[in-house]
Amino acid sequence: MSFQNTSAWLNYDTEHLWHPYTSMTDPLPCYPVESARGVTIKLADGRELIDGMSSWWAAIHGYNHPQLNAAIEQQLHSMSHIMFGGLTHKPAVTLAKKLIDITAEPLQHVFLADSGSVSVEVAIKMAIQYWYAQGYKNKQKLLTVRSGYHGDTLDCMSVCDPVNGMHSHFQSVLPKQFFAPQPECFADGSTNIDALEQLLEQHQSEIAAVIIEPIVQGAGGMRIYCAHYLQQLRLICDKYDVLLILDEIATGFGRTGTLFAYEQANIVPDILCVGKALTGGTMTLAAAITTKKVVQGISADGAGILMHGPTFMANPLACQVANASIDLLLASPWQEIVKQIEKQLKTELSACVQYPVVKEVRVIGAIGVVELHKAIDIKTMQADLVAQGVWIRPFNKLLYIMPPYIITESELHKLTSAIHHVLKS
Ligand SMILES: Cc1ncc(COP(=O)(O)O)c(C=O)c1O
Repeated sequence: MSFQNTSAWLNYDTEHLWHPYTSMTDPLPCYPVESARGVTIKLADGRELIDGMSSWWAAIHGYNHPQLNAAIEQQLHSMSHIMFGGLTHKPAVTLAKKLIDITAEPLQHVFLADSGSVSVEVAIKMAIQYWYAQGYKNKQKLLTVRSGYHGDTLDCMSVCDPVNGMHSHFQSVLPKQFFAPQPECFADGSTNIDALEQLLEQHQSEIAAVIIEPIVQGAGGMRIYCAHYLQQLRLICDKYDVLLILDEIATGFGRTGTLFAYEQANIVPDILCVGKALTGGTMTLAAAITTKKVVQGISADGAGILMHGPTFMANPLACQVANASIDLLLASPWQEIVKQIEKQLKTELSACVQYPVVKEVRVIGAIGVVELHKAIDIKTMQADLVAQGVWIRPFNKLLYIMPPYIITESELHKLTSAIHHVLKS
């Protein structure tokens, strides 16, 4: 059976398909897409939208990139998938080497996971197993900060912000973790890390790791905080013997102006999670990368088996396109490009504070955020934005963009003008 026309399959979608964070019985509307190329999304009715979202941080090179397509096509002819248990392949090994080469020197061991959430699950397991194998069997909890977001599986949810992560729905099943206040950096150079330190001091015997998104907290509030907080955090984690997991699934691959956001603090995590832009937004793939110290700790009881092994672990197509995406990024003047986007975002978005509905404007790297005083009526604002010829997906009180790095000055101007338009009206 095939669908006669667009409205037929769109109706079927509305009736039968769940979309992210929406109701099945009363869903938010969806816009049918025919294709995407460069920074342009073409809707089924022929309208073209400039993409401000990079498909949630991922499509850094834009859509339908010839080099990424070629990598997938070439790989397709040798194998699209092969199990990773007992077998290995060059695309995975090449990717592991690339990740080891571009991250901090102590990060030497790579677990290839099939989504960002799964890589966070793996990082959590690594941390718990690290302590368990060394006889610290009570160190099973995590400490994190409010306004964080780490994914949607249960363990990931347990370290998302308790309020906007909707912990209340899952009270009895979510592991109870420790929450410090969201990071704050003050004009005198100090931070609010004392509250986090107090929690560690009191509960260090139960805490395996601190998990945090470095420099930018993404979906939990699109907040930016200072590198100094991370420097303090690294010292405190060492002082109280807990591991530090940095979740760079959103911030990785240049988005904040450095290849990885942790570089701005000049620190090294014990475990680093990357995903999203890893494959240039073409396919799902993520990684948890860790140190020799963690690997040796996990093996300290002699067994040393990390208890995870997804069916599609290290999918060759995804690995090969990730290799192509990293090569493409590193061969481009991405620092200059991101700096240029940042400059334009600062110039063009800062004026949004003039609108009474706006609380604050925040920009870092290729990320621009306008926070409003009140929650946005997504359906209405989304329609207004589409009518302006842009794809920007607001959520909660936030109107934000993180465009593909290939965006031109005039395309970016179209995005910021659309934001002004909807805030004005
Ligand atoms: C910081 C962070 N961690 C984890 C995730 C989860 O990744 P995925 O959606 O690929 O499971 C996300 C996704 O938005 C994220 O932004």
